[in-house]
Amino acid sequence: MSEMSLELRVLGTAAGGGFPQWNCGCSNCARARLGELPARLQDSVAVTANASDWFLLNASPDVTRQVEATRPLWPRVRRGSPIRGFVLTNGDIDHVLGLLLLRENHPLAVYCTAEVRAGLLENPMLRTLMRFEGQLVWRSLPIGDEIELLGPADERSGIRARAFAAPGKPPLHFPGAAWAPGDNVGIELASEQGGRLVYASGTAAVGPIVGDLERASVLLLDGTFWSETELIERELGARSAREMAHVPISGRDGSLARCEGLPAGRKLFTHINNTNPILDPRSPERAELVTRGWDVAEDGMRLLI
Ligand code: MLT
Ligand code: MN
Ligand code: ZN
Repeated sequence: MSEMSLELRVLGTAAGGGFPQWNCGCSNCARARLGELPARLQDSVAVTANASDWFLLNASPDVTRQVEATRPLWPRVRRGSPIRGFVLTNGDIDHVLGLLLLRENHPLAVYCTAEVRAGLLENPMLRTLMRFEGQLVWRSLPIGDEIELLGPADERSGIRARAFAAPGKPPLHFPGAAWAPGDNVGIELASEQGGRLVYASGTAAVGPIVGDLERASVLLLDGTFWSETELIERELGARSAREMAHVPISGRDGSLARCEGLPAGRKLFTHINNTNPILDPRSPERAELVTRGWDVAEDGMRLLI
């Protein structure tokens, strides 16, 4: 396996709820229902180093649709899957629910922090993934150390991953819980050719992780909200972007400003909320981010690093 590049498939680029979101009638969602804007599945990325063993970054509630939409993830035998496991960046429903949807007797390795694992294990439905020895193989995801992702029977994947703590919050179903660094991480994947994907689809701020973002040749960053008060202005919510642990794209401390000068050759926003004006390719907000060297990740996008 010399000089293998990493192949990435972007499986979904929407924030929790997807695009359109079932109970939202905002103008973006209305236009998506009419086919005027492309619909998007929830945030997830698939990766392989050998074109046959795949790991998914996050387990979206859309995972079964994402598999069907992605030919390399289709079964190659009468019963089986090239998906060896998952890396979870936090315990939010939009990043873990997919695990429960893959309960059909297929062994999976799940890499996550102790905090995320403890939160998941509070849900008795997880037992549907633990009906036989080796069905779900928990693997720790250390912060700061590079590891090779291994399949459920320790099969080598050739994928090297490093997690880093990103400012976030505990999942909504643990209200009031104290925040710990392991609650929310970003992931760096390195290829033997020296390329690096940095995936941070949820972060409350850029400053504390700018050293991690600087390492990226391809960057996939939290693009949930364009502005700090997006939901409040539209009377669709009471909380600001940062109160929801998502750095806004615009503004003095927004990601566009704080990421100025990052060396990544490709800078893409993902985990985009249905209210975000960048979902419209003709919006002035989209034009502004493109002018500043960014783009919006698209479902189905293939990236090589
Ligand atoms: C988030 O990204 O803030 C979460 O997906 C919120 C949620 O769990 O609905
Ligand atoms: Mn989310
Ligand atoms: Zn909407």
